[in-house]
Amino acid sequence: MIINRRSALAAILAGGFADCAHGQNVRYPRPEGAATRFWSECDQQMIALSLRRGMRVLDAGCGNGQHLTRLAEAVGKRGEAIGIDRAAGQIEKAQQALRDAKLTQGSARVADLFAEPFPAGSFDLIWTSHVLHGLPDMGAGAEALLRMLKPGGRLVVRENRMSSSLLPYDLGFGEPGWEFRTDLQWLRWYTKNMLAGKRPAGLGWTEILKQAGAQTVQPRSFLIDLAEPEIRAQEEYFRWYLQRRYEWPGVTPEDIAVLDRLTNAKGDDYFLRRPDLYFTQLSTIFICTKAS
Ligand SMILES: C[S@@+](CC[C@H](N)C(=O)[O-])C[C@H]1O[C@@H](n2cnc3c(N)ncnc32)[C@H](O)[C@@H]1O
Repeated sequence: MIINRRSALAAILAGGFADCAHGQNVRYPRPEGAATRFWSECDQQMIALSLRRGMRVLDAGCGNGQHLTRLAEAVGKRGEAIGIDRAAGQIEKAQQALRDAKLTQGSARVADLFAEPFPAGSFDLIWTSHVLHGLPDMGAGAEALLRMLKPGGRLVVRENRMSSSLLPYDLGFGEPGWEFRTDLQWLRWYTKNMLAGKRPAGLGWTEILKQAGAQTVQPRSFLIDLAEPEIRAQEEYFRWYLQRRYEWPGVTPEDIAVLDRLTNAKGDDYFLRRPDLYFTQLSTIFICTKAS
């Protein structure tokens, strides 16, 4: 099953993970949009928390526009929502999403946030979801965003806690603790390849954001909690959630054998045949204020 693991890893290191650090890998690309349905309620709550109609907002690193369209809806016709992303392909998708939703108060353009494409003090609110952790200098990224914010404005940084959970501790085959153990290999890989050489090297967001100049930083977390039938309805996403472990170096052959059983749709141990699946994921926003 893992014939090409080494070359897949080389491709990841050469840039396969560059744009969506947790998202895209080589043999098992994250199914696009597959999780949108179950994140959508959580996204809506997070976005609603800090937005008012009439605001001018920026979505920095907007990706395919899944939040930009919600931001544009929330600010209404008297407001404005602008998305930037350095990936032209993502911007095309974001523009299409805005057109499909007929949100003329929204727009998207290719830009690098480090280039600060808007003058200082341009926005009431800047939203940035799953972007800062991927930047070579997370602090400098936050500083650039804070500069583009109006005095008294808010920077909202969304980042996930790293571990999610789907499976019971004891699967009934293999050594108990399979999901924790394989996740640990991801954390090791992440620390070595994604955090190494970054400033700062840790992911202590409250401190990073304060050092970047935020006056206050208030974290708020949202739990995504799924059981059946929602898990079955997202089969493609959860198959990817398991299969990407084929590409994490350090997963033992014994644990790969368990993964083979869990992901073989024709076998008795296919994960969706289990009655005991339960998915949790914690999504956090850090609401930062800029001094007036
Ligand atoms: C993990 S994706 C998140 C996309 C979206 N915000 C979301 O939550 O679904 C990170 C996005 O940040 C963009 N990005 C990374 N560095 C950037 C930079 N310096 N300037 C602008 N966009 C950047 C990538 O192209 C990618 O689309």
